This record gives sequence, C-alpha cells and structure tokens, in this order.
Amino acid sequence: MAVKLDEFSSSLDAVAIQAGDVVTVPHLITDMLPYLDLPINEHHRLHLLRIARLLVQALETPRETVIRLCWAEPTLYGAIIVAIDCGIFSYMSQTPNEPVPVEYLARVTEMDPILTSRLMKHLSAMGIFQESAPDLYLATNLSKALALSKYAGGFTCMAEGAMKAIYRLPEYFRSTGYRNPDEATAGPFQFAYETSQHWFQWVSERPAICQQFNHHMSAYHQGRPSWMDRDFYPVENALLNLVKPGPNAVLLVDIGGGFGHDLQEFHQKHPSAPGRLIVQDKADVIQQVPNEPGKVEFMAHDFFTEQPIKGARAYYLHSVLHDWPDAECRRILRHISDAMAPGYSKLLINENVVPDQKADWQITGLDLMLMTLASARERRESEWHQLLTDAGFMIVHIWSHINGGESLIECQLA
Ligand SMILES: C[S@@+](CC[C@H](N)C(=O)[O-])C[C@H]1O[C@@H](n2cnc3c(N)ncnc32)[C@H](O)[C@@H]1O
Repeated sequence: MAVKLDEFSSSLDAVAIQAGDVVTVPHLITDMLPYLDLPINEHHRLHLLRIARLLVQALETPRETVIRLCWAEPTLYGAIIVAIDCGIFSYMSQTPNEPVPVEYLARVTEMDPILTSRLMKHLSAMGIFQESAPDLYLATNLSKALALSKYAGGFTCMAEGAMKAIYRLPEYFRSTGYRNPDEATAGPFQFAYETSQHWFQWVSERPAICQQFNHHMSAYHQGRPSWMDRDFYPVENALLNLVKPGPNAVLLVDIGGGFGHDLQEFHQKHPSAPGRLIVQDKADVIQQVPNEPGKVEFMAHDFFTEQPIKGARAYYLHSVLHDWPDAECRRILRHISDAMAPGYSKLLINENVVPDQKADWQITGLDLMLMTLASARERRESEWHQLLTDAGFMIVHIWSHINGGESLIECQLA
C-alpha cells in the first residue's frame, strides 16, 4: 500500500509541474482568431476575457498557481494598501504619461527608497504599474483607478472588516461541524471578530470603514449593464406609464440605497420621469451623504421597521437581500408589502441570479464573501421564487442582460 501511495504521489508531483491543460491551448487560441479583425465591443471583450482566463489556466502549472495564490496575491493585497496609504497611486496618476524614478517617488511619498523599490517591483510584476526601465515606473489604467477613493475603498474596508474572518473560516467551520451559516449575527464574522454585532452594525461604529464600503459599492456597479438602460428593462412602458399625477406621488423608493448613486443615475438617464425619487438607508449612512441639492431625496429609515412611504409606484432593493439570510429577508419584504398599493406598486429587486451552471467568479466570490460577513448568500432562480413566494410576492419577470451582471427581478403582490 505504501508503495502504491508513493507511486501515486510521485505521479501527482509530475502533474504539478506541467501546464494545467496544454491540449486545449490551440483550441482556445483558435477561438480568439475571429476577433482579430473586429472592433471589440463590450460583448466581444467579455467573451475574449473568458477565453484569456481559460488560456492562463491551461498554460500555468499547478505549482505556479499555488505560489501565485499563496505568496504573490496575498502580498499584493498588502502592497496595494500600503501604496494607497502612502499616496503612491495619487502621485503616479498626476504624471500619467511620464515614467517616474523610484527614488523620486520615495522622496515625494516620504518612504524608505529600498522599501519603495521593493513594493513597486511587486506591484509591477503583478500588472499594477508598468516598469518601463530599471527603477522607472509608469501608471496604468488600473493604478489610475486606484487613485480614486471609490476603487481604493474596497481594499481598505475589506482589509479591516473582512480579512480576519476569511482567514479564520477553516477554524470557524471546524467548530460548527461544517454547517452552512444562516444566523445573521452568529456566523464567521462574529466568530473571528469576537463580536455579537451584525456586520453592518459593526461598520456603523467605524465611520471610516463605513465610508470606504459605500464608495466600494458605488464602484462595484460601474461599467456593468444597468437596468435603467433602454436595452435592459422597459422603464417607460413598465414603470413610468402609470405614475400617479401630483407633487407628492413617489416613483421610486431605493431602500438601503447607500449614498444614492442608483437614483442619481436614474435621474440622469430619465430626467423627465414624473414622481419623487427617495433614497432610504440607516441614519448613520444618510448623515454621511454629501449635501448637494437635487432631485433625489434622502431619508433615514431602518428597513426592519414599518415603511413610511406608502403606495409608491416602485420599491427598489439593490444588493440588499443578498446581505441577509431568508428569515431577515422575509421581515424586510413584509414591511414593503404592507406599504404597497395592490395593482399599482411594484417591487424591483436588482440582484444576481446565480446560474445553475458556470457561474461567473464575481458572483461565486461575492457569495462566499456574503457568507463570511453576514451568513447571507447569492440566490439561484429557484431560491428567489421560494423566498418571494413565501413573502407574498409573485415574480412577474426576471430581466437579464446579454452581457451578464445583475438581473432585475420584477415582482408584484401575489
Ligand atoms: C450592499 S449595500 C447596497 C447599497 C446600494 N443599494 C447599492 O446597491 O449600492 C447594503 C445597504 O443596506 C444598508 N442597510 C443595512 N442595514 C440596514 C437597515 N437596517 N436599514 C436600512 N438600510 C440598511 C447598508 O447601509 C447599505 O447601504
């Protein structure tokens, strides 16, 4: 038996230093060829990106993947946060087309030149900057994005408010006998951070992380298909057509709407839409909203309490229900259904619908993040039907975009 195991492990050892799936490489390259002469639209870009990722998987050896995941990516995460803290991204974005010598960068950021050089080397090896000559660095589109707080915020808030729980997942699951977490205030986050608070409550007490998180949420949706666009959901015919007349009629209530980026976008895209646009969120979030006069109104409201806006044309939940286990979702939904006008009000849910096969890594990654932070989940279509039916709703239609992203689940009272 020992001999067999040894033989087995030596054959696995050999596999670990061979390309992942070299046979598929010519097929994958052939799949890319038709795009050589085409202008690359968004649909083509996403398709090519999928093939390019498969190509990397096919060419990289398991050993290389292990080293990348164990060394290069965790240290990259740390290096990015140090670079954010020291202003490297902001400085590099001010001289976007000129290579910057590393000693100069160290001087303006007041960092040790040797440390700066080591960080810049790894950041460049991992594609964040471009190393144009020894010790000379150029900004890239990625490094320019990281100069913006809405893109940098994701790193800093996840480092403070998630990483410990991710690293302690194995310990947490050993302690629970590998049970799927479904208690909003007794999951991996509470275990790792030794708290009984829900993640949102914990974040509320840390305004800097709260602000970074809200920036991060606004970045998450950027550049993705939006239901407000003409090729997604028929806004005019399905939403604007029946809005009640009068100055107080409410068109949309964005519940848990953060800093209001969705309704600002709606107003930009449909400037003459009738009716009020109201963003609701927890009081501490609403307090942080920049005070700019405009069409969108802000209101502090806890969605576990009675909905004060009655009979709106639509109640809108974007990336809210995925933050909660089913029991809490049913409570949120009950307060909405109590406020809806039968035959007039709609519920619009903008969320991922996890495909039964080949879900995108953005969805599966978010699913595990939600599990870790909030014992919550992304849901499949059958799970959405179950949840909404139990809460007294009927799904009218699930609108999805050809380029993926979140769907719009249109519902009415059952
Ligand atoms: C994942 S974020 C989504 C934000 C926004 N809808 C978006 O898509 O960008 C969830 C939002 O729910 C809010 N939230 C959490 N608990 C809440 C509560 N009890 N009442 C109201 N809002 C709450 C959070 O403050 C946060 O803004």
